[in-house]
Amino acid sequence: MGYETLNSEVSNHIAVIRLDRPDAMNALSTQLLGELARALRAAQDNDKVRCIVIAGSEKAFAAGADIKEMSEKSFADVFMGDLFGPEVDVMLRIRKPIIAAVGGYALGGGCELAMMCDFIIAADTAKFGQPEVNLGVVAGIGGTQRLTRAVGKAKSMDMHLTGRFMSAEEAERAGLVSRVVPGKKLMDETLAAAGKIAEKSMVTVTAIKEAVNQSQEMSLSQGLLFEKRMFHALFNTEDRAEGMKAFLEKREPQFRDR
Ligand code: HXC
Repeated sequence: MGYETLNSEVSNHIAVIRLDRPDAMNALSTQLLGELARALRAAQDNDKVRCIVIAGSEKAFAAGADIKEMSEKSFADVFMGDLFGPEVDVMLRIRKPIIAAVGGYALGGGCELAMMCDFIIAADTAKFGQPEVNLGVVAGIGGTQRLTRAVGKAKSMDMHLTGRFMSAEEAERAGLVSRVVPGKKLMDETLAAAGKIAEKSMVTVTAIKEAVNQSQEMSLSQGLLFEKRMFHALFNTEDRAEGMKAFLEKREPQFRDR
């Protein structure tokens, strides 16, 4: 049940999963990614959890896949073993909101992991990069696709082809992160955002996550139809009735996730 490469704790309805391989800048070994998938699934299955935070250390969110471990592998090893495939599949099936709290380096798989979260809050010290080009590979868990969607082709090509790092400030300007906060306040601000989400109706939050994610998969007209149907469907929920009633009665809503 325990974890060796991360810590996972639940309090105030928030699961905080903190990557913890200090000697290797939180490099994503297969053990770490396996434990992360397990911790995420446990958070999804825990009825007390309403929002998930993935964090690293002050120095590194994660400096990418574990290069030492990867250096030993052949094409047949990674292709037949579907390196990182199952862990990523688990992460993408998590229906609860996930916030990445990024301090320090988020490189390669670390940047990709942050981008697989629903949004990123960055410390002003954060540095993002896809330096796989220096190792003779391409990003492997979404970098060429998600970074391009997030910041556009020009910056994405620049980052992937030169391997340069992007500061937190540039990342915010480019739309990769939702907010930049002083390093010392990273966890407080992230937990405050998670706390806000935890107060909402889980039915509504889950629907919103699905609808926004569809924007990355569908044409505009299909996405708009998906959203409209979701909007209509939510009129069936008790929480929709409560939310509107509470507004009219000038009080806080009491959501029951129904
Ligand atoms: C294994 C790593 C590592 C990594 C750092 N370390 N990154 N070990 N895999 N990705 C280890 C170092 O070997 C070193 O161990 C210790 O962490 C501290 O790192 P230093 O390099 O001494 O620190 P510093 O000079 O401050 O530089 C920090 C750094 C640099 C800029 C983050 O370590 C770096 O460039 N790391 C590699 C980043 C990278 O190329 N990522 C992409 C990986 S490929 P020792 O034992 O020497 O003290 C990838 C593919 C994605 O992610 C595929 C899908 C997941």
